[in-house]
Order: sequence, then structure tokens, then C-alpha cells
Amino acid sequence: MLPQLIPLPFILLLLLSEFFSCNVIDGQVRINLNGKWTIQAEGSNVSYPATVPGGVYMALYNKHVIDDPYAGFNDVAYRNIGKKNWNFTKKFTVTESVVASKNIVLVCLGIDTVAQIYINGFHVRNTSNMFVRYVTDVKKYVVVGTNTITVAFTSPVTAANKANDKLPYTVPPNCPNPKQNGECHINLLRKMQASFSWDWGPAFPTLSIWRDIYLEYFNTTVIRDITTKTYKGNDDWYLEVVVFFDNRARVPVKGKLSIHMSELKVMLTSNIDLTKDSDELKTVIKIPKA
Ligand SMILES: *[C@@H]1O[C@H](CO)[C@@H](O)[C@H](O)[C@H]1NC(C)=O
Ligand SMILES: *[C@@H]1O[C@H](CO)[C@@H](O)[C@H](O)[C@H]1NC(C)=O
Ligand SMILES: *[C@@H]1O[C@H](CO)[C@@H](O)[C@H](O)[C@H]1NC(C)=O
Ligand SMILES: *[C@@H]1O[C@H](CO)[C@@H](O)[C@H](O)[C@H]1NC(C)=O
Repeated sequence: MLPQLIPLPFILLLLLSEFFSCNVIDGQVRINLNGKWTIQAEGSNVSYPATVPGGVYMALYNKHVIDDPYAGFNDVAYRNIGKKNWNFTKKFTVTESVVASKNIVLVCLGIDTVAQIYINGFHVRNTSNMFVRYVTDVKKYVVVGTNTITVAFTSPVTAANKANDKLPYTVPPNCPNPKQNGECHINLLRKMQASFSWDWGPAFPTLSIWRDIYLEYFNTTVIRDITTKTYKGNDDWYLEVVVFFDNRARVPVKGKLSIHMSELKVMLTSNIDLTKDSDELKTVIKIPKA
């Protein structure tokens, strides 16, 4: 029997703290870092406005620095863009109550691809995979007032070539068909493979913050993800719910998990007893017969 994903016909509520008084989802607050950023290429003294989520080609196109990259052979004319290192920079303001919070994390849902992230000049992390969410503790770097975040990108073309140089063997295909005017060794990067060219598509090895980026501040344990699975036992159907927590404070947490399946008019509750070292909780519920 294959596990089956439920399209969430139910609402999942979670109440935490010993007194069941605090809803963790409400206790988690965000500072959105999307919107206006500036970009600058290494070795250049000119910066351009950019919109996040977004990348360098779009920013240069919007500022009329380049024409439509899809027109004619503009992919070849603009190939140098992806061979440069680019910095994305933004200033943001933080209040005292944010800095007073126990946890401050930087959440990047999509960084494309190889980059070093700095806050107020301090190196906070590296990235190398455009498909994953990076959550980084930045509490010690954020200050009351104006802060600066820089995502310093390495050219993906350079990064792919360097990764290849480090290998004692080659991983074919090394380079695309020359007719594609593409770049080499994309299979060594966790980046959209078509961005180095494909038989049907030109190469735009972009550098971008392609999904939301924000700070989260919270004093409690928070929920990061929820997965559900239904399966059949001998006679009954069961619902397995796994809740993944961000328990970075490493404290034991007691609480109550309430699962509400609105279509079946069912509300089920189980106790949460998270030890200080655990980050997930699995609950299995027998689905009542209608
Ligand atoms: C990019 O950011 C890094 C790290 O802050 C810095 O060392 C470098 O000078 C910056 N480059 C440009 C072109 O602004
Ligand atoms: C920027 O660099 C160019 C040459 O690359 C130079 O002509 C110009 O004076 C520089 N501008 C500033 C503000 O430094
Ligand atoms: C966390 O607690 C501190 C100190 O009580 C408070 O200033 C801050 O606003 C709280 N943060 C959140 C997200 O509730
Ligand atoms: C981050 O990336 C830089 C540049 O590639 C590298 O020198 C540094 O060692 C990396 N740091 C970590 C912690 O991986």
C-alpha cells in the first residue's frame, strides 16, 4: 500500500507551553527582506537596483543596461554577466523587541546558487544549493537600528569549473554541444540544470535570490513542517502526522497537538512531550468510521 498524501482537508492547530496558553505559530514574527535591494558586480563601481525575489538579468534589463536577453543572439552577447561575481545588498531596520527575542534566524527559501551571506560584515553562512531552505541563527549579528545584509555570489560558471578542477575524474557530460553556446559542468552544481543551456534553451547562468528571504524572531519552539500520510490497517484507516519543530533553544516542551478534520467533523488531541534533543513528533490516529 503506497502512502497517500492528504490534500489537507483539515486544519492542524498546535498549542505549546506548559499552560497551553501560547500558540507557537502566533509567537513567531517575521521581518520581510524581499523588495528593494542593490546589486554590484565585483570589479565594478556601479550598483543597480534589483527586486527580490529576482536575479541579475532581470535587474539589468529593468534598468535598460541590457536589452531583451532572449532576442537574437543576446544570450551570447551577455554571457559575461554570469561569469562575474555579484553582490546583493540591502539595509533593514530592527527594533529593540526583535533583538530582545531569544531566537533570530535568517530564512532563505531560495539562493541561486553559490554564495556567502554576511550581516553587518559578519560572515553568517555559505550556500551551494538553490533548491533548499537555509535557516541560520543570526542572533549575535543583528543590532537595534540599521543593519546590512549582503549575499555575495560567486559566478556559477566559475564555481562549476572549480568543482571540476577538484575532481580526480570527469563527470560527463562535461560541456554542452558547442552549438548551444552553453557553459560547462552544470552537473556539479545543485542549480537549475537548464541555466547553463539545453538543446532547446539558451544559457542564462543567473545569480539570484529567487524565493522569499526574511528574518524570524521568536521566544518559543516553532513548527517548521508538517507531513501527513494515510494508510489502511486490517479494518481501519489511520492518519500519521509528523510535526517537525525548530527547537533551537534545546529546552523540553510540553503541549497539546489538536488535529481538526473539518470534513469528518473530527477533532483529535494528543499530548506533546518534546525532549530537549528532539525536533519531531509522530502521532498516529485511527480515523473514525463515518
Ligand atoms: C561583496 O561583499 C563582500 C563581502 O561583504 C565584500 O568583501 C566585497 O568587497 C563586495 N564586493 C562588491 C563589489 O561590493
Ligand atoms: C568608475 O570606474 C570607471 C572606470 O571603470 C571610472 O571612469 C569612474 O571614474 C569610476 N567612478 C567612480 C565614481 O569611482
Ligand atoms: C520575546 O521576549 C522578549 C523579552 O520578554 C520580548 O521583548 C520580545 O518582544 C519577545 N519576542 C516575541 C517574538 O514575542
Ligand atoms: C565559505 O565560502 C568561502 C568561499 O568559497 C570559503 O573560503 C569558506 O571556507 C567557506 N566557509 C565555510 C564555513 O564553508
